[in-house]
Amino acid sequence: MPVLDRQSLEFISRSAEQTRRAGMRLGALLQPGDLVCLVGDLGAGKTTLVQGIASGWGSLDAANSPTFVLVNVYRRPDGDRLYHLDGYRLNGALEAEDLDMEALVESGPLVIEWADRIEAALPKERLWVVLHWVDDSQRDMVFAAAGSRYQSLLVDLRKYIFGVR
Ligand SMILES: Nc1ncnc2c1ncn2[C@@H]1O[C@H](COP(=O)(O)OP(=O)(O)O)[C@@H](O)[C@H]1O
Ligand SMILES: [Mg+2]
Repeated sequence: MPVLDRQSLEFISRSAEQTRRAGMRLGALLQPGDLVCLVGDLGAGKTTLVQGIASGWGSLDAANSPTFVLVNVYRRPDGDRLYHLDGYRLNGALEAEDLDMEALVESGPLVIEWADRIEAALPKERLWVVLHWVDDSQRDMVFAAAGSRYQSLLVDLRKYIFGVR
């Protein structure tokens, strides 16, 4: 059984497409105020997951690595925004604090790659996702909920991904 406990959920993706689909399921559940933190080495699938998240959330814009800007902003027809931040491009938690993370989270869902690099600057309640390279086509992901909002998000995600409670 892939379910570890009520606070976490493990999922082995067998293709980039499957990772995108899992991201879409998560993205469809996200609301302003939600924080999703992604952790994993280069090539672990963070940006692939974000592409799914943005698409499932309803973004009009295609998701890409935030290469030229610190924060990518994706828009939806209803005017809502999703923010995509790259913690790797920040010089640690101090610089992250200058960004006013709380304000970003409040005004739209916020998804952060390399979140472990700026962890000290992040709100404690969040969905923490650790991705690992297994082989060329497989990635292991563990979703862990910190806070009641994220526990209920995980319950819904579990139903969506595995069709079980
Ligand atoms: N199961 C999988 N899930 C996600 N990506 C995969 C998977 N299998 C192969 N890949 C490939 O691995 C790479 C992941 O890159 P990317 O999502 O940019 O990772 P990161 O943002 O963590 O550096 C992509 O080229 C993708 O096509
Ligand atoms: Mg990336």
